[in-house]
Amino acid sequence: MKHQLCRIDDIPETGTLLVPFFGREVHVYKVQGRIRAAANTCLHFGGPLECRDGRLVCQWHGASFDPASGDRLKGPAPKGSRLMFLSTRVDGDVLNYVWGE
Ligand code: FES
Repeated sequence: MKHQLCRIDDIPETGTLLVPFFGREVHVYKVQGRIRAAANTCLHFGGPLECRDGRLVCQWHGASFDPASGDRLKGPAPKGSRLMFLSTRVDGDVLNYVWGE
């Protein structure tokens, strides 16, 4: 199964593209030559994230995460917590969320 997230051309070279995802949101971005899609959900209390100084930073209490690995860098999110990445695949000129394939 698959679900289209966005067109590849719409993914910015810096920063993120925020796309709707079944009533929630996902940050889609390029990092270290790879396209990633991370849920717009902090691992502390679920606050929304924003891209700031090359990190994904929670707007509620300031937890920050490495956009490449998803690792928590600092802040109140639990040590060892990581961003929730979606499994994705590039199909032609679109990025799809894929599952069960
Ligand atoms: S909800 Fe993100 S740091 Fe608290």
